[in-house]
Amino acid sequence: MKRDIQHLLNPALQNIATYKVEGGQHAEIKLNQNESPFDVPMWLKEEIIGEFVKESWNRYPDILPYRGMQAYADFLGISPDSVMMSNGSNEMLYTIFLACLGPGRKVLIPDPSFSLYEKIARLLQSQIVTVPMLANLDFDTEAILRVARDEAVDFIVISTPNNPTGKSLTFEEVRLIAQSSDAIVLVDEAYIEFSRQRSILELIDELPNLVVLRTMSKALALAGIRIGFAIASPVLMAEIAKPKIPFASSRLAEITLAKVLANYSLVTDSVSYILHERDKLYEALLSLDGVEPFLSDTNFLIIRVGDADALFQSLRSEGILVRNVSGYHLMENCLRFNVGLVDENQRLIDKLRLL
Ligand SMILES: Cc1ncc(COP(=O)(O)O)c(C=O)c1O
Repeated sequence: MKRDIQHLLNPALQNIATYKVEGGQHAEIKLNQNESPFDVPMWLKEEIIGEFVKESWNRYPDILPYRGMQAYADFLGISPDSVMMSNGSNEMLYTIFLACLGPGRKVLIPDPSFSLYEKIARLLQSQIVTVPMLANLDFDTEAILRVARDEAVDFIVISTPNNPTGKSLTFEEVRLIAQSSDAIVLVDEAYIEFSRQRSILELIDELPNLVVLRTMSKALALAGIRIGFAIASPVLMAEIAKPKIPFASSRLAEITLAKVLANYSLVTDSVSYILHERDKLYEALLSLDGVEPFLSDTNFLIIRVGDADALFQSLRSEGILVRNVSGYHLMENCLRFNVGLVDENQRLIDKLRLL
């Protein structure tokens, strides 16, 4: 029976798994999905809902969310033709991969990196060329440049700062990779607001093969509303947006985005808080026996411990949910957790101190 169904399906399904979040999505102290610990304040939610009720819910939204795209283009100070909004940046990843990959195409992915890249590439039956990070989890820029050239890859996807390592390429390294390759280079800047490095966004007109991906799920605290963006030169954007699902962003997402951008000090304040807490956490982790923290350029930290599986379970039983990233290449016995509120971070440190 199983075989009968299987031969009717995309053969690539045998090489991919359903997306899962180990440990679930609920906990007293939830630090496992790199979210913001700050919800949108109630006064702003009420303002957003006040706008939303004036909309026609029986009517489709625009084919593409033009109002949201205009709002983000204005915020960035670029042309709306360079911007595409999606239902979370995950949707945009599918769109861009569909536009660039397929059987016979080669994609370069640093390893470890965001798991969805490999999943979509496999689904599209493309050839994946991985470039391992260095042992300290830093990017191996020389290897990326060399492999991109030697393997003549068609597509390069880089998360910088990178999930799950927390490390970044410099602005100049990203520029060099995009400049020296004929491939389409997708730079996922999901964590850029927390980075010491400058965004590569300013080079979209200079580099016709560059696409930048952004999400509103991290620094902008809108993971539940599902908003992502791609930014590229208008010529490239017109092509990579062709596979886009029509009507994928709701009216609520467009209104929420505009309102949060209009109150951006909420974002800069929470980013400052998170960065301050990240530095405090890192220092506290350094002082713990049996814990090796890695310097992070994101809103999360990676630690290496003696037994990550046991620690994951023990934290879970205390109501603290982190991500066990031990299964990733080079990340044996590593756990990942995002920066939370002061008290949450303190409880985590207290628990780790008892190791
Ligand atoms: C590197 C990276 N890109 C993209 C995403 C997806 O974000 P969303 O679909 O919420 O915009 C994530 C989420 O964790 C991520 O870590």
